[in-house]
Amino acid sequence: MKKGFIFDLDGVITDTAKYHYVAWKELADSIGISIDLQFNEQLKGISRMDSLDRILERGEKADSYTQAEKEALATKKNTNYVELLADLTPSDLLPGVQEFLEEAKRREIPCVIASASKNAPFILKKLGVADDFAHIVDPATLKKGKPDPEIFVKAAEAISISPADAVGFEDAQAGVDGIKAAGMYAVGVVVDEPLHGADIEVKKLTDLDIDVLLAQ
Ligand code: BG6
Ligand code: MG
Repeated sequence: MKKGFIFDLDGVITDTAKYHYVAWKELADSIGISIDLQFNEQLKGISRMDSLDRILERGEKADSYTQAEKEALATKKNTNYVELLADLTPSDLLPGVQEFLEEAKRREIPCVIASASKNAPFILKKLGVADDFAHIVDPATLKKGKPDPEIFVKAAEAISISPADAVGFEDAQAGVDGIKAAGMYAVGVVVDEPLHGADIEVKKLTDLDIDVLLAQ
């Protein structure tokens, strides 16, 4: 029987992945780099600074900015992103999320957030589900980002369970890779692009039977 659920945030709990893309695209355009939705797939699950580095590499501008300038660019993107989140409400929870969290609570199965986003506490509050999570892993404490398993291992530790007793939910390939490397059961939440290596793929959490999941 599984004993805990470990959730990614962007693209799993709510569709903020589209706002990340809009904000990165504006930033990239402003420095003469073109990005598209396909390229954006490799930014999913990746930290803010690592995302910026990948964009600069794509535009062959990796060495064009000092660290301070890069930090200013990342801050500019984040300011724009946070503005796009202004109207986020509980109605922006992805289908089935609210019901899933309620079912987990009824069964006393703790839920944890394992997201690379430093905006996670703010977003969960706006969505009205902050109290549904026993813990949010602080990405600032990580040595390595996804696909390293560290964030998922820390999430399991926070609720005192072994990774093998946890189910992880991810929409990003880097995230699925991290969940599997941690030794967890992986639910891949698929939008357009397929995810490799997930134990089960669903389009929405409504497609899942919580009791079947717990029995994995
Ligand atoms: C991840 C997103 O959840 O968080 C990435 O998939 C994002 O796209 C990363 O870059 C960091 O988010 P933030 O909110 O700290 O810039
Ligand atoms: Mg995600």
